Amino acid sequence: MSCPHLSEGFDATDPDLLQGRVPHPEFARLRRTAPVWWCAQPPGVTGFADGGYWAVTRHADVKYVSTRPELFSSHENTAVIRFNEHITRDQIEVQKLIMLNMDPPEHTRVRQIVQRGFTPRAVRSLENALRSRARAVVEEARASAGPDGAFDFVTRVAVELPLQAIAELIGVPQEDRARIFDWSNKMVAYDDPEYAITEEIGAEAAMELIGYAMNLAAARKQCPAQDIVSRLVAAEGEGNLSSDEFGFFVLLLAVAGNETTRNAISHGMHAFLTHPDQWELYKRERPSTAAEEIVRWATPVVSFQRTATEDTELGGQKIRKGDRIGLFYSSANNDPEVFENPETFDITRDPNPHLGFGGGGPHFCLGKSLAIKEIELIFEALADELPDLTLAGDPRRLRAAWLNGIKELQVRVA
Ligand code: HEM
Repeated sequence: MSCPHLSEGFDATDPDLLQGRVPHPEFARLRRTAPVWWCAQPPGVTGFADGGYWAVTRHADVKYVSTRPELFSSHENTAVIRFNEHITRDQIEVQKLIMLNMDPPEHTRVRQIVQRGFTPRAVRSLENALRSRARAVVEEARASAGPDGAFDFVTRVAVELPLQAIAELIGVPQEDRARIFDWSNKMVAYDDPEYAITEEIGAEAAMELIGYAMNLAAARKQCPAQDIVSRLVAAEGEGNLSSDEFGFFVLLLAVAGNETTRNAISHGMHAFLTHPDQWELYKRERPSTAAEEIVRWATPVVSFQRTATEDTELGGQKIRKGDRIGLFYSSANNDPEVFENPETFDITRDPNPHLGFGGGGPHFCLGKSLAIKEIELIFEALADELPDLTLAGDPRRLRAAWLNGIKELQVRVA
């Protein structure tokens, strides 16, 4: 299978490709000429996907696959599309204990339980604490600025609120929060040489986090409190998580809820500062549509994957049982069939049926309302406290296979 318009060897999960940009021009060509396209990967880079995967790039096809778990399974791993020197088969096996990598009916059971912690009421109950936290973060960032007024927006602002939100949600005491943050960072920075995170360090961090969460669960079982841990584990039985299941759930939250929201916030700030008309509009009118557009624009999760459970057809291609399917949310979120002027950052865009939180199937992001609330609160605080922020350099991008990450964004206060 070949596509004459594509540069030879295009692989949208290559971290080198994502270091610095999302491959929008290539995605646009794929959507037009080969919307479901076989991306070959060189042997050794990926050892478990038969040398490649189908890149699904149109909005409609990403939704189709996401909503048919019986045809497209999550069990063989959802997040790791590349199998490289850092990720072993053993790690893939362990990851099957995370709900993101489960299929119904197992997934349905776990999802029904954990959903109790993410109701609109649960999110509302965090709002006041997160609002004050957002204000404090912005004030501390201003105080950290050097004599020229510059500071790094990522470390000073974007990292803080998502971490605090998860810690607040699961009731982690203040004094333990820095450790959670450190573990979750070590688990996702594999591909970026700057962090020098080895497989051992990443795996060790994951085990420490799981151990911590299991201890927390055991303590709440003994002595329930008014937090989500108590609600999920308080009594053993069908309607509750075991301590192990809770440990893996916290592991998922630490990755899924942290880096994603952090990057949405960093990309959002960069988008505002490079589109001053939108920043002015935001400061004046605070449109309630802004946070969704920030997520569409950023699409922090570039792609997740599925595995075909039987021979089938997709976008005119014959898919074989066992084939890997890469769902490219970044591409779907720029599909002109669905979005008018997709390359325009427009915070009043409405409707905005972006797939930044997934394609709407059973795995649709559990933390969406919380993420949207965090984005709203941080930009409200920024617009009130630091309305004259300017860019003080180009963003430095994270080298990663599936995450559209910014690791440094220098900004300046007036
Ligand atoms: C699942 C994106 C924030 C918890 C997902 C999925 C995506 C996603 C793409 C997979 C959907 C699918 O496979 O169909 C994002 C983005 C976020 C964000 C872009 C921020 C802007 C959060 C937060 C939390 C969270 C704040 C929790 C604190 C989860 C969980 C799942 C998930 C638990 C797995 C759900 C399941 O398997 O049923 N997210 N997420 N996410 N997300 Fe998020």
